[in-house]
Amino acid sequence: MKVLVFGGSFDPPHVGHTALLVAAAQRIRPGRILIVPAYHAALKPSPRAAAQERLRMLRVGLIPSLPERWRRIARIDTREMLGQRRVYTIETLAALKSEHPDWELHFAVGSDGAAAWSLWRAPERLARICRWWTARRPGAAAHRFPPHFSVIARPMPPVSSTQLRADLAAGRDCSRGLHPRIAALIARRGLYNAGLMAALKAGLKPGRFAHILAVRKLAEALALRWGEDPRRASWAALLHDCGRLIRRRRLAAYARARHLRAPRLGEIIRRQPGLLHAYVGADLARRRFGCRDQEVLAAVRSHTLGAPRMSRLETLLYVADAVSEDRTHPHAAALRWLSFRDLDAAFAQALSAKLRHALEHGRWLHPLSVSLWNRIGAKP
Ligand SMILES: [Fe+2]
Ligand SMILES: [Fe+2]
Repeated sequence: MKVLVFGGSFDPPHVGHTALLVAAAQRIRPGRILIVPAYHAALKPSPRAAAQERLRMLRVGLIPSLPERWRRIARIDTREMLGQRRVYTIETLAALKSEHPDWELHFAVGSDGAAAWSLWRAPERLARICRWWTARRPGAAAHRFPPHFSVIARPMPPVSSTQLRADLAAGRDCSRGLHPRIAALIARRGLYNAGLMAALKAGLKPGRFAHILAVRKLAEALALRWGEDPRRASWAALLHDCGRLIRRRRLAAYARARHLRAPRLGEIIRRQPGLLHAYVGADLARRRFGCRDQEVLAAVRSHTLGAPRMSRLETLLYVADAVSEDRTHPHAAALRWLSFRDLDAAFAQALSAKLRHALEHGRWLHPLSVSLWNRIGAKP
């Protein structure tokens, strides 16, 4: 039996995947189609969307988008995803061959993957084990394919996952590149930060938006340095100032109407209502932007005043917010450097810089920050 194997990261699956799969199926006329999503494709950085999300997108969008004839014989093979590690294509194809010696394997891959053939693991074995198919995507005219590839001469939509991720993050319209059900799922689950970026860009001043991007950059780097998940750090950083979408003079009314809990809420409202943006932000993050990650929400809540007990993610976001590249106070650069060597020390110093700044400007000190300083910053 002819079997068409279609591998990729599907981050996210798009109309180009459908077009290539259908074009290859029409040429090969397989008895079965196996869609094999990679947990972490060998030649690519780690996917932006988690494995389960990509699987869900394939199920709700890619498979239903196939013509009935091909949909009936299409299956998703989760072996690479369940392995939860980088799996080389040669491993998967060798396993399929030994499980089904009678299968005649055909592999379809997008033009980027085909053009990067020299980087694939065990290319000679790969070339022998199955037949290879690709199609040229518009914009990839310069790609050269190895001779064992059959190039399907069909017009492909000018879509790539890389471009889609950038468009989704920036809140641009992606309806031409995504199946409607995948677009809806992305919006509903906030994948690729869709919607949030658009709201932040539209609702905040350019300087504030640039600050958020700078905090994200530092938070991701710190997460990698300190063993936290960079995707969660990125999500927390993007959300951290979303409370600024509410006008300053409306923050107190919002907090009251939503019965938000903040330490000494009444005093904050009277003395420095701007501090409420962190607590309002956590509420907006949950309600408007669909964040259900309690630790991310806690990090948004504690990014300005801190909290009695802070997780590593919270500490990391507090520091990233205080010393991101857009901060120009005299200690910012030194603290940024310190944050990669000793995160707790950087936190204590960032806290002390904030307290000093408040004192120099004759501002009220929130007792929570003072008690945090007494506990972790003051010398014994
Ligand atoms: Fe903030
Ligand atoms: Fe901030």
